[in-house]
Amino acid sequence: MTNVKDSPENMTPPDRMAVPSTAKAPGTALYGNILGEMPEELVAELLQPTLPNPRVRFRDLSVQDPELRARLLHVVDELLRDGRLLMGPAVEKWERLIADYCGARYCVGVSSGTNAIYLALRAFDIGPGDEVIVPAMSWIATANAVVLAGATPVFVDVGDDLNIDVSNAEAAITPRTRAILPVHYTGRLCDMISIGTLAARHGLRVIEDAAQAFGAADESGRAGGFGDAAAFSLNPMKVFPGFGEVGAVLVNDPKICERLRALRYLGTVNKEVCVEPSLNHKIDTIQAAMMLVSYDVVEPALVRRLELAARYCQRLKDLVGCPAAPRSAADRRSVFFDFTITTPRRGEMRRFLEGRGIEVKIRHPLLMSQQPAYRHLDRRPLPNAERLVKQILSLPLHEKLTDDQIDYVAESISDFCSTAASGR
Ligand SMILES: Cc1ncc(COP(=O)(O)O)c(C=O)c1O
Repeated sequence: MTNVKDSPENMTPPDRMAVPSTAKAPGTALYGNILGEMPEELVAELLQPTLPNPRVRFRDLSVQDPELRARLLHVVDELLRDGRLLMGPAVEKWERLIADYCGARYCVGVSSGTNAIYLALRAFDIGPGDEVIVPAMSWIATANAVVLAGATPVFVDVGDDLNIDVSNAEAAITPRTRAILPVHYTGRLCDMISIGTLAARHGLRVIEDAAQAFGAADESGRAGGFGDAAAFSLNPMKVFPGFGEVGAVLVNDPKICERLRALRYLGTVNKEVCVEPSLNHKIDTIQAAMMLVSYDVVEPALVRRLELAARYCQRLKDLVGCPAAPRSAADRRSVFFDFTITTPRRGEMRRFLEGRGIEVKIRHPLLMSQQPAYRHLDRRPLPNAERLVKQILSLPLHEKLTDDQIDYVAESISDFCSTAASGR
């Protein structure tokens, strides 16, 4: 893929760091021909290498606080002594906590965010022959859950906030449409009032993909409390991080809740009576028990996240496309799961920042509609999503970053912009 002139040996160190080794990339032996059809820059983005020893890490999943670590280990020890490792009181307590926090009546703990979306669709009998409207821009889990439920995703355009464009969603409604699946992308709330109005007008379900948006809220409500159902991922990358794979479905209708409880465990009632086929999607009790402890640090971590996002906004707003700055620590319109900027010189900026030891990510370089798995589906025009997907770049953001690290990233972007402006 790289010619002799561009081979890693002939490049300056920053460029060399950015060159992916397709030979070593997982899955490329079997799927290499698919990558071979794609432009070189896109392949580099898809196989973005991990920076060795970055100076600013994109995420840091370690638990550094010794007191929190001791409490987490203690709760695991208690659970091991107790022996109730499947479901049990810890799960019930955790479900109550999540439902109350998000303003929903019921929470059903499940094994991942993807499964949460899938189960929510199944609980509303959305399946073969049905269409579900989804934004073209999301992590592929959103579309896969729709397809595995048996329905067809209809990809629609996004606005400049990277969230579903409501007028585009309206234009995509057909007699087969059953639901709208808005994604609170990068942790920023969608326009849920307009989505709710549109859905009510057309008799559609609203299933929120709130995987990235735990804690996001505005005057109209909280992520997870708007739709007929909401799906959360709470894996270690997320705003309320678990310690492995974990997800949740939130609903208000008691019958739907009952059905979800059956669907999450092989479609059974009381374990022994199978009322409909399903797989095992149960949450791990150990996750629930540990998260009941780590819940104590969610709010301070969120406040810190917002402070850091505000600092980025202040320094970057005149240099690149920037998300709206939080007005205060109480402004939760976005919880900044990702701090995603836009720049038309994304590839060069990425390599420049990586050359300075800053771990950045393109999340995600392909729209869901552009994925090889979904190219056969009918395509609606997606001009905004197709433009933005070439410009998005997510910067490091997590509560363990220091102000100095944020300033270092911002200064590096400023240096890149002045180098680019002077044509050097
Ligand atoms: C928008 C979105 N939806 C769904 C998911 C799926 O969640 P999980 O990885 O827990 O299955 C994710 C995970 O990152 C996500 O970002």
